[in-house]
Amino acid sequence: MPQHRFAAQRPLRLSHIEPFHVMRILADAQAMEAAGHDVIHLEVGEPDFPTPAPIVAAGIAALSQHKTFYTGACGLPELRAAIAGFYASQFGVTVDPARIIITPGASGALQLILALLVERDTEVLLTDPGYPCNRHLVSLFEGKPVNVRVGPGSRYQMTADLLTTNWNKNTVAALVASPANPTGTVLELSELAALAAAARQRDCALIVDEIYQGLVYGRPHETVLSVADDVFVVNSFSKFFQMTGWRLGWLVAPEWALPDLEKLAQNLFLAPPTVAQHAALAAFTPETLAILETRRQELAARRTLLATGLQALGFEIPCVGDGAFYLWADAARFTDDASDFAARLLAEEAVAVTPGVDFGHAPTLLRFAYTQPEARLNGALQRIAHFCGRRPS
Ligand SMILES: Cc1ncc(COP(=O)(O)O)c(C=O)c1O
Repeated sequence: MPQHRFAAQRPLRLSHIEPFHVMRILADAQAMEAAGHDVIHLEVGEPDFPTPAPIVAAGIAALSQHKTFYTGACGLPELRAAIAGFYASQFGVTVDPARIIITPGASGALQLILALLVERDTEVLLTDPGYPCNRHLVSLFEGKPVNVRVGPGSRYQMTADLLTTNWNKNTVAALVASPANPTGTVLELSELAALAAAARQRDCALIVDEIYQGLVYGRPHETVLSVADDVFVVNSFSKFFQMTGWRLGWLVAPEWALPDLEKLAQNLFLAPPTVAQHAALAAFTPETLAILETRRQELAARRTLLATGLQALGFEIPCVGDGAFYLWADAARFTDDASDFAARLLAEEAVAVTPGVDFGHAPTLLRFAYTQPEARLNGALQRIAHFCGRRPS
């Protein structure tokens, strides 16, 4: 068959988009499992809990009532109102439901916001380390992702000072996440207010990804909307509500952006998934919230177990994040190449972790997800101890 000319000369934007390195780890782990090995998965960025039963029941009911047709591009009015009600009851914040757009996951929300803001050669400030898809989406829209190196000094978060020093007249947005992936660290409301003020002064949009909202330990959950109204907020049913595969999220946007976002939503997605939206109506009930609270407490216990265990083995965790379900741990004591370390840990001990290179410039760092029950985490610690030639304490 003759080669299509695009096979030889592909659009330039594709060269800026990298695959997830962790997918290689995942494929190798799955091959080992197929060969009969018991792999402990600490690489996966999703909760191990099934979707809470009331949400599943609402989804089944929607299916059996044939609620399978397109909804409006911005989502079911009842769900937008329920989310507004959640902001009111949990955070005391009033949000007009018209400013809430339901999307296919936080991924859909990020696509809409970046499609709205980014033009060719404009710049978006991102943290390094940070969630890798963001820089790829900016590239897809022909913008320039500017990776702002952040370290333990700012708990791996962007600060108003960093925003100011990295800003120039081509900067259209700064994107932060709280709690963050891969570090789990949280921005204080005062820091969010300072970021919003710095962005406002420079006519630059602030995008706050709150996808891990609710998954915080030893502190209250919060939203940037308590301190700023003119920001873009990204959220999702994936993590706290444990609905990753349902593909449902939302964004909250300033009023001026709504007509364009709606137009983009119509063209990019037509509508968010209908059955998932009906299911999500059960996400905010007291029954579901009680299930989620029990699971949050379990995650808190796992976090302590894994952090303490890894530190005892000689991993340095400069900031044990207060949220999400990740630990960002430095393996410098054992290796100067975390990707090689992760590949060998999998091959020799059947423990899968994510190398830091997926998230930025982090040659010796690894992301450990505590998305496994405590017994499995203990098992993983023993295997890691064996791999590192140490005894678990
Ligand atoms: C920080 C962050 N934002 C967005 C996403 C996308 O999530 P989803 O599209 O499942 O809502 C993820 C997924 O891991 C994430 O970690």
